[in-house]
Amino acid sequence: MIVHVDLGEHGYPIYIGDGVLNDLASIIRKHCHFEKLFIITDHNVEKLHAATFVEALQAGHYTADILSVPAGENSKSLQCANGLYTKLIQGHANRQSMIIAFGGGVIGDLAGFVAATFMRGVAFAQVPTTILAQVDSSVGGKVGINHTLGKNLIGAFYQPSFVLADPVLLKTCDLRQRRAGLAEVIKYSLIRDRDLFYLLSEQMQKLISLTDSQTLEHVLAVCCQIKADIVAQDEKEQGLRAILNFGHTLGHALEAATHYEVFLHGEAVLHGMRAALHLSHLNGNLGPDTLKSALSLLEVIKPPAIPGEVKADSLWKAIQYDKKQSQKGQQWVLLQDIGEAFFTRQIPRDLVEDSIEYMLAS
Ligand SMILES: NC(=O)c1ccc[n+]([C@@H]2O[C@H](COP(=O)([O-])OP(=O)(O)OC[C@H]3O[C@@H](n4cnc5c(N)ncnc54)[C@H](O)[C@@H]3O)[C@@H](O)[C@H]2O)c1
Ligand SMILES: [Zn+2]
Repeated sequence: MIVHVDLGEHGYPIYIGDGVLNDLASIIRKHCHFEKLFIITDHNVEKLHAATFVEALQAGHYTADILSVPAGENSKSLQCANGLYTKLIQGHANRQSMIIAFGGGVIGDLAGFVAATFMRGVAFAQVPTTILAQVDSSVGGKVGINHTLGKNLIGAFYQPSFVLADPVLLKTCDLRQRRAGLAEVIKYSLIRDRDLFYLLSEQMQKLISLTDSQTLEHVLAVCCQIKADIVAQDEKEQGLRAILNFGHTLGHALEAATHYEVFLHGEAVLHGMRAALHLSHLNGNLGPDTLKSALSLLEVIKPPAIPGEVKADSLWKAIQYDKKQSQKGQQWVLLQDIGEAFFTRQIPRDLVEDSIEYMLAS
């Protein structure tokens, strides 16, 4: 299956399918004639999948340097990027080189940032290995690293030449990771696709357990298509792209209030989506039956409970920080129906407070 991200001269295909990694060499050849490949990965993915990856390259007589960094969010740092620049220079990388990100969202963001900045930009491709990376972070060209004062503050929009998403790679992801990735899948259904919502309502268990590869492949492709369509209309997040932040205002606040130590991103977003659904209802946009069926889909993926010490105050603080960044006031993404999101800055404070209390109480 191929999903196209339609961005004019920066457009690119996403190849999706069981075993598509075996076609890596021919896909590289189709897109470019690069002299030298550099694979950026993390230690976990390297251990589990580097041999298969190298084999796939060898089928096309490619060789590559593998640059591996520690797994985890801490690697999205300037220090780590700097270490990679050094290795690229030592490996004689030049403007005819290609960097391939092979890993989850951390690796995609980091490798993309390095590709965007090394020698003012070298060719880049992504082979994402988590659900989150296959449906979200590898699509749309946002690349970046964290600053000690905030996440993802340093970065660029930098589109890859292609993305190759092989669901077989997901089999080694642990259950918690898979569930968290599926939170973003549910988000796509809520903001944009009622059919996907019904399908998820019936098939979520199979998706969690990765036991139905056809449905999984279909769902991955639908999600990539949704994000591709949104990004094609609003590449630099001037408007529509913001609907992808459904559940993220309070999700991010929750991550910050718990110092990024309690929740995986998708888990925090699940809590945030519950609050955003509740807020949509309180604001008169979402009827009670629709609210109930949306909440029951979220129920299937049980995120860890919010620790008792997280108080509404600390969430408010995190939201205010977010708001200062935007200067125009806090934007809320709400639903008026399943598959129909909109955004607004006109939400009375007491409704937000109610939604926060609702989130904390459940
Ligand atoms: N650029 C974007 O548009 C965008 C969008 C959403 C999220 N993100 C970023 O993505 C990151 C989160 O991504 P993530 O959830 O994929 O995290 P991650 O990259 O840290 O991967 C999670 C864990 O799974 C391991 N892993 C990866 N693939 C595996 C596999 N196939 N089998 C076993 N283990 C595997 C990793 O080593 C890591 O320990 C965050 O930094 C977030 O900011 C970016
Ligand atoms: Zn997200």
